[in-house]
Amino acid sequence: MGLLEGKVAFITGAARGQGRAHAVRLAKEGADVIAVDICRNEATLAYALATSSDMAETVELVEQCGRRIIASQVDVRDEAALRDAFDGASSRLGPVSVVVANAGILAILGAQASRNRAWQESLNIMLTGVHNTIETAVPSMIRSGQGGAIVITSSTAGLKGLFASRAAATPGALGYVAAKHGVVGLMRAYASSLAPYGIRVNTIHPTGVNTPMVVNSAHDDFIAAHSDMWAGMRNALPVGLIEPTDLSDAVAFLCSDEARFVTGVTLPVDAGFSIR
Ligand SMILES: NC(=O)c1ccc[n+]([C@@H]2O[C@H](COP(=O)([O-])OP(=O)(O)OC[C@H]3O[C@@H](n4cnc5c(N)ncnc54)[C@H](O)[C@@H]3O)[C@@H](O)[C@H]2O)c1
Repeated sequence: MGLLEGKVAFITGAARGQGRAHAVRLAKEGADVIAVDICRNEATLAYALATSSDMAETVELVEQCGRRIIASQVDVRDEAALRDAFDGASSRLGPVSVVVANAGILAILGAQASRNRAWQESLNIMLTGVHNTIETAVPSMIRSGQGGAIVITSSTAGLKGLFASRAAATPGALGYVAAKHGVVGLMRAYASSLAPYGIRVNTIHPTGVNTPMVVNSAHDDFIAAHSDMWAGMRNALPVGLIEPTDLSDAVAFLCSDEARFVTGVTLPVDAGFSIR
């Protein structure tokens, strides 16, 4: 028996990176998956977002685990589209009891980071988008009366003021830090208001993860241009980037009954980055 046998999980940003790893891991634990991702590029970004062929690969990987998956191209900023995708998929797969609000962007790279739009879209996607995701799922979770678990992907930037240099603290970087701190507040408010329904809500806080968000040439240029800022800011454990599956282990635990009394928690999966 897997940890999530017979459950249905709703995952945003599922076409690649951590979202894909969570879809595969939750499927291995016995869950069917409702996957959404924007699958198109954003003008505010100096790197490419996922594609529909990335999403097709996620679908194939989940199906190889013997589980069902319904994938849609949806922008988490679009609440109506999110609701349509969710309702259509859950009418086929069954009631959702697991939500992973994972979609995100890193609008800190390149010239685009200095535009006010980088601030705005960071908040639109990673704060309002998380709110949209949770509001899409919660009414049916409450109706089903079976409780559930919600995990929001924050960051070490949701625990610390990461961009400790005026040059690096662009509107995009400040938007990232503000959104990733903002979801901690959102998580606490939801954890408290949804507890009577047996719905648990937690955040995870990854250090650098080996995904296309940070493994790209614009990110390499950013690190090189701000090398002073990173001096002394390293993982405590001897590792550079961690793997998406390292986060999936935490997500699987938080969504399972093994964490049945864990709610309102900010869980760093950061190799000790935030203790320094
Ligand atoms: N990679 C890291 O180092 C790192 C560190 C800390 C936190 N995070 C967070 O982890 C989460 C997952 O990121 P990742 O590392 O897998 O990067 P990623 O870029 O591989 O994955 C993010 C996914 O979100 C999707 N997405 C972006 N905007 C969207 C929108 N408006 N609607 C729907 N989907 C959208 C992208 O297409 C992509 O598939 C993000 O919230 C990110 O901020 C990443």
